[in-house]
Amino acid sequence: MRTAQIVLPDADGLDAAVALLKADQVCAFPTETVYGLGANALSETAISEVYRLKGRPSWNPLIVHVADADMARTLAATWPDTAAELARRFWPGPLTLVVDRADHVPGFVSAGSPTVAIRVPAHPVALALLEASGLPLAAPSANRSEGLSPTSADHVVRSLPDVPMVLDGGRCQFGLESTVVDVSHGTPRLLRPGALSVADIRAAVGDIDVPEESTPAPGPVLSPGMGKRHYAPRARVVLVPTLDTAALRHLGPQLGILTHLPVNDTINQDTRVELLPADPSGYGTELYAALHRLDESGVHTIAVLTPPDDEDWLAVRDRLGRAVA
Ligand code: TXA
Ligand code: MG
Repeated sequence: MRTAQIVLPDADGLDAAVALLKADQVCAFPTETVYGLGANALSETAISEVYRLKGRPSWNPLIVHVADADMARTLAATWPDTAAELARRFWPGPLTLVVDRADHVPGFVSAGSPTVAIRVPAHPVALALLEASGLPLAAPSANRSEGLSPTSADHVVRSLPDVPMVLDGGRCQFGLESTVVDVSHGTPRLLRPGALSVADIRAAVGDIDVPEESTPAPGPVLSPGMGKRHYAPRARVVLVPTLDTAALRHLGPQLGILTHLPVNDTINQDTRVELLPADPSGYGTELYAALHRLDESGVHTIAVLTPPDDEDWLAVRDRLGRAVA
């Protein structure tokens, strides 16, 4: 049953959201990347509600959102120079920093890890909520675990009909999650490619370790949320090298196509085609919304034209790879 209320982020809406958060309940809110399911990061009751609503496995830690870098530092045991530099350059913005967790920050927000992931979001509604509540807000993407991330208030309600409230901030600017970088020791290490490009990070701090793309490999998982199947629509997703009519026919009826290049007109009239921008950031912004639309249309299979191979497309390839798995 649907109980979610979509609320405008005016003064009354923000007051209502703050009241929920202070009462150890949850509230979904917009960020510049995707919508988050927010909860007081210091309350075990609130955090358990996030895990329950999402059906999220207890080993997968949450990102803590804060109003500014000063507040971020209070949650960290140490604040390395690279953290300071990246925060100065890219906050508020779509970058999450993993640092050693301060003793007073409870382990339940990080699934017991000695580290904590922190970011300052750039969306005005997210910042207003952080300021008005005065709380650090843990916020995973506001979707059922493993499902598609939400880039509109409607997507949240469809994925989490039981969430008490969604602040409606319209469509998300980036549409892909933040880039997660471990700066806890030594050379920064990319844990999840995302809305901020690796090239921008490299330009700021010189060097960054970027793991092989063939991940996830067996063995210890560095960013626990990077499970193989993730960011997935209900339909089967298949990556194809070309949109060749004969090859597509093998994928069966009720086919949808997601492409960054125009399709030729011999493609079956019943096939639903989502043509996305041919640049990685434009494509990233539209990706989840297009997958949501294809899912809603009831297609059984989504054929995705394999995106280009360069580093700029890393985050897009990562999400598509996990939607396929
Ligand atoms: O853009 C975003 O990051 C969105 C918005 C709402 O801010 N949030 C988001 O959260 O994508 P979530 O929970 O869906 O993804 C968080 C990712 C997961 O892959 C998780 O494993 C990783 O960050 N993570 C969180 N804490 C970590 C930690 N202490 N060490 C390593 N990875 C961590
Ligand atoms: Mg997520």
